[in-house]
Amino acid sequence: MLSPWLKLSSRVSGNGDYNSPFEAAHGKDVWAYASSNPGHNSLINGAMASHARIAMSAIVDRCPEAFEGVGCLVDVGGGDGTALRTLMKSCPSISHGINFDLPHVVSVAPEFDGVENVGGDMFEVVPKADAAFLMWVLHDWSDEECIVILRKCREAIPEGWGKVIIAEAVIGEKDEVDKYNDVRLALDMVMLAHTEKGKERSIEEWEYVVKSAGFSSFTVKHIHSSIVSVIQAYP
Ligand SMILES: C[S@@+](CC[C@H](N)C(=O)[O-])C[C@H]1O[C@@H](n2cnc3c(N)ncnc32)[C@H](O)[C@@H]1O
Repeated sequence: MLSPWLKLSSRVSGNGDYNSPFEAAHGKDVWAYASSNPGHNSLINGAMASHARIAMSAIVDRCPEAFEGVGCLVDVGGGDGTALRTLMKSCPSISHGINFDLPHVVSVAPEFDGVENVGGDMFEVVPKADAAFLMWVLHDWSDEECIVILRKCREAIPEGWGKVIIAEAVIGEKDEVDKYNDVRLALDMVMLAHTEKGKERSIEEWEYVVKSAGFSSFTVKHIHSSIVSVIQAYP
């Protein structure tokens, strides 16, 4: 995870040999590397699980309305299912959870009552549910890729009353006082080092991807105890 930082120049100079500093350091992208290295896969899923537990508790505490009326929820790019398990313990109305991620990730995810682990590719098809949840997934991808993922999520939810719930950072304006904005900007640097075209987004950039994916409206709620905000997008 550190060696891509020594290859940042490959992205800045854009010499075309590698798609990302991570690829320049390891010869493949971050997901392919995890798929072919079980030790790294377990390390990275464990790290994401630790932060998912904390972020999900803050979201349930500060934004419980996001999950009201949702009986079946698909967590797209849900990792080892920690976020979904944390959520379902606090929101018993969610009777069926689908933890959806790449096959090599869900194949080692723990079992949990009411949670189905489903392997697949979110660029192809997302399992159907009342609502789709994405936490720290879209920041790994370019605007064009986010629009594809969000369109797949839109196809997975009911047209009239479904929604997509996005838990991600929203980069503030320069003059906005926010004690976590520097952390969000540091995360933007992590995206630069580890992904091909990922980035943290401002509210205008979120509006662009959400609206371009065909959603008619959206709301944003900042979770002030965390760097995460909750964006709810409606068809
Ligand atoms: C930054 S992690 C976030 C994990 C989890 N949502 C969390 O907040 O802890 C991004 C997740 O997206 C998954 N992912 C990457 N490409 C995917 C794809 N094509 N289809 C489904 N999931 C994918 C990764 O395996 C990883 O678990």
